[in-house]
Amino acid sequence: MSAPGAYYITTPIYYVNDVPHIGHAYTTLACDVLARFQRLDGKRVLFMTGTDEHGPKVEKTALEQGLTPLELCDRVSGRFRALVETMDFSIDDFIRTTQPRHEAAVQALWQAMHDNGALYLGSYAGWYAVRDESYYAESELTKGPDGGFLAPSGAPVEWVEEPSWFFRLSDWGDKLLELYDRPGFVLPESRLNEVRSFVKSGLKDLSVSRSTVRWGIPVPNDPEHVVYVWVDALTNYLTVAGYPDEGADLWRSFWPADLHMVGKDILRFHAVYWPAMLLAAGLEPPERVFAHGWWTNEGQKISKSLGNVIDPFSLVEKYGLDAVRYFLMREVPFGNDGDFSHTAMTNRLNGDLANDLGNLCQRCLTMIARNCEGKVPAVGAFGEAERALLVRTARLLDEVRELLARQEIHQALVTIWTAIGDANRYFTAAEPWALRKTDPDRMATVLYVTAEAIRRVALLVQPVMPNAASRILDQLGVAADARHFGLFGEVGALTPGSPLPPPEPVFPRWAEPAEARA
Ligand code: ME8
Ligand code: MG
Repeated sequence: MSAPGAYYITTPIYYVNDVPHIGHAYTTLACDVLARFQRLDGKRVLFMTGTDEHGPKVEKTALEQGLTPLELCDRVSGRFRALVETMDFSIDDFIRTTQPRHEAAVQALWQAMHDNGALYLGSYAGWYAVRDESYYAESELTKGPDGGFLAPSGAPVEWVEEPSWFFRLSDWGDKLLELYDRPGFVLPESRLNEVRSFVKSGLKDLSVSRSTVRWGIPVPNDPEHVVYVWVDALTNYLTVAGYPDEGADLWRSFWPADLHMVGKDILRFHAVYWPAMLLAAGLEPPERVFAHGWWTNEGQKISKSLGNVIDPFSLVEKYGLDAVRYFLMREVPFGNDGDFSHTAMTNRLNGDLANDLGNLCQRCLTMIARNCEGKVPAVGAFGEAERALLVRTARLLDEVRELLARQEIHQALVTIWTAIGDANRYFTAAEPWALRKTDPDRMATVLYVTAEAIRRVALLVQPVMPNAASRILDQLGVAADARHFGLFGEVGALTPGSPLPPPEPVFPRWAEPAEARA
């Protein structure tokens, strides 16, 4: 794992043959949540995303669109960068595989594997799917409707015969199986079995160069070949950590990566080929590969041909960024497949956000504004109910930290929302509005305890909804530099008497736009 106090988290780098869709936004969002949590928790974080720009798939798409490969790369990479802005992803680096720093890293890794005797020149004759940029054995293929062969992913394959460099993947079976015994190397657990049985069934050497493709990084000392695009792409994780400068602070702090986040479609590349290549080059494998599930749209597979691709930019425009971020992280147990639907989205928006968290804030803060001169209320003696709510919310940080250490993002939100439910029940049962005349001191105490519970909840919501959380914390008068988890507990508690700005609602309810109703 990276050095103590450091945390390196990566997203896949996305192909530029197609513009970003909700699946890409999802993976990077999950990483953003984890990265933000670690920063608030006092870690030094390196969080990257970027674009995968070489290989026949990009070469072909550029040709179809009448562009040079680099023109296509510039254009689509720009869309992925725009997504970073729109989704408020807190990245530290955005890598493009066409950058010189990356070419240097790929060639250095190649050289290191070559020096260790892990590469040899041979020739490849077999099947290749451009859509997956992947080789397939004949036994894996099925006949498609038009008579052509299809990969298990459904991608059409073509026959390739050419001189090729090979990586001695077959040497690494035992070492990989040992790696899989390391707890949590692959999560979720169910996916580990799939990887293990693939390795146990026997590994063949992997073709790692193409001599009939031009759009790629030249193989050192053999420029007739370009490096296989997956070897090129995977190396990006090293490039961002400063490889091959292994003496630099960046490298020493952050390699090996703590977490490669990927979709289940590309687990084999990350959990089999990648660690074997790293070991062959004398480098440490990553600490963990997490493979999350697949999104469908209103029950259907998302695909360009079905025309049901969900555009993350319009989604954010329609529902608002906080709601989209919350929905994607809350709706589906992280690791499982999930379905996007308008109904599910509006239910979360109106239920969890507007009703549960929104109303709690609104009820408590308007009462404070009206009855406590717009200042944090004075605290009186605590009863059983006050102590229970404060104990409950004080435990949240440890609970969420533990869940996020296993990437159980959805469960972390469930846990936080359980506490929000407790706070709502406490507030309702305490009836502070009824105490206004009869027992104003006790009313103040109830408002204080509720506000303090909201402060804790809002601190923990920051990684998922940075904007909404920050507006809640503004309304509680929590200073910008007092929002890290070092001040989660008692030390950071609200100070009675400190002035508060006027409250305003944070989560509006979803209403159909008028034209949609007409
Ligand atoms: O595979 N649901 O890039 P890619 C959930 N360049 N996640 C989805 C998704 C969906 N429907 N669709 C895509 C590549 N994703 C390579 C990676 S890494 C060294 C090279 C997400 O553009 C998910 O993370 O095809 C998936 O693994 C990734 O996008 C694939 O993106
Ligand atoms: Mg893909």
